[in-house]
Amino acid sequence: MNNEIITPDKEFEQKLRPSRFVDFVGQDKIRERLELFVQAAKERSDVLDHVLLSGPPGLGKTTLSYILAEAMDVNIKCTSGPVIDKPGDLAGLLTGLERGDVLFIDEIHRMQRSVEEYLYSAMEDFVIDIVIDQGPNARSVRLNIQPFTLIGATTRAGMLSAPMRSRFGLVNRLDYYDAATLKTIIERSAKILKVEIGEEGAMEIASRSRGTPRIANNLLRRARDYAQVKADNIITAELADKALNLLDIDGDGLEEMDKRILTCIIEKFGGGPVGLNSMSVSVGEEADTIEEVYEPYLIQEGYLQRTAQGRVATALAYRKFGLVPPGQ
Ligand SMILES: Nc1ncnc2c1ncn2[C@@H]1O[C@H](COP(=O)(O)OP(=O)(O)OP(=O)(O)O)[C@@H](O)[C@H]1O
Ligand SMILES: [Mg+2]
Repeated sequence: MNNEIITPDKEFEQKLRPSRFVDFVGQDKIRERLELFVQAAKERSDVLDHVLLSGPPGLGKTTLSYILAEAMDVNIKCTSGPVIDKPGDLAGLLTGLERGDVLFIDEIHRMQRSVEEYLYSAMEDFVIDIVIDQGPNARSVRLNIQPFTLIGATTRAGMLSAPMRSRFGLVNRLDYYDAATLKTIIERSAKILKVEIGEEGAMEIASRSRGTPRIANNLLRRARDYAQVKADNIITAELADKALNLLDIDGDGLEEMDKRILTCIIEKFGGGPVGLNSMSVSVGEEADTIEEVYEPYLIQEGYLQRTAQGRVATALAYRKFGLVPPGQ
């Protein structure tokens, strides 16, 4: 992925990442629920149940994981599904945990099956089986580990196996944010970045951020650059509009690739249905990225439908490009 608007910039994100529940704006139900479970676990001096966080990129899964560890007052160890390539790696991580610690596994749907199965007994009974010696002397030894909290994050909840999913006590799906909430996030970020932004300026960026805090922050950063060079460092609505137009982000928040996907379906495939792989070749973007990053928003906004036969452009998509939908 090489699109700077949707690609995370670690250093920049850390600076703007809220570290406490009070600074985490939006997703009210999930936040309330998690806060309650944290409080209950703390009152009982208990370990927090395993948490699954799913949803499109940039909505706050990693952020919430850090907030949870901070609120529980425990250490957090981070890894990601594809990185753990054998059960032994996982054993190393698990045996290093202290009571109540959080093990955060990003992209948990991409964990290998053999590693995943190994995790089951750790999650359920806090034991792991380690194989020692090799060849005819090989035997397995059962080892107790400290009770811990696994927080799994995934952009593809549907790809998680049923046994894995059922081992999470708290399952949460993050949704896209509305513009008013994103505006609050942008105003907070602007304060941290020490840039001046008017209310309309914040709203302009918010409404063009595809419901995603990460994108809102990235667009704010670009608007700040623009304001620094072309204006007196103040982000007004007019300035935000110019800065976003320069980035090819339109009034509905769609960017280059979104539009390419939609026009491709309409112009090259007669509106669909078209398979993901044909589309991927046609627009020059990886199938996974199309499916995880671009499509969820296009579907949520009603431009695209996923059917059993493939992707279909909706009437709204036709109208967006000034075309008449078929059959009308
Ligand atoms: N609710 C929120 N309030 C304020 N800022 C937020 C919120 N959610 C996310 N952010 C901001 O957006 C950035 C991206 O969030 P985060 O890294 O948690 O997303 P993610 O869901 O883990 O994405 P990915 O799937 O790509 O890992 C954070 O650095 C943070 O600054
Ligand atoms: Mg993340």
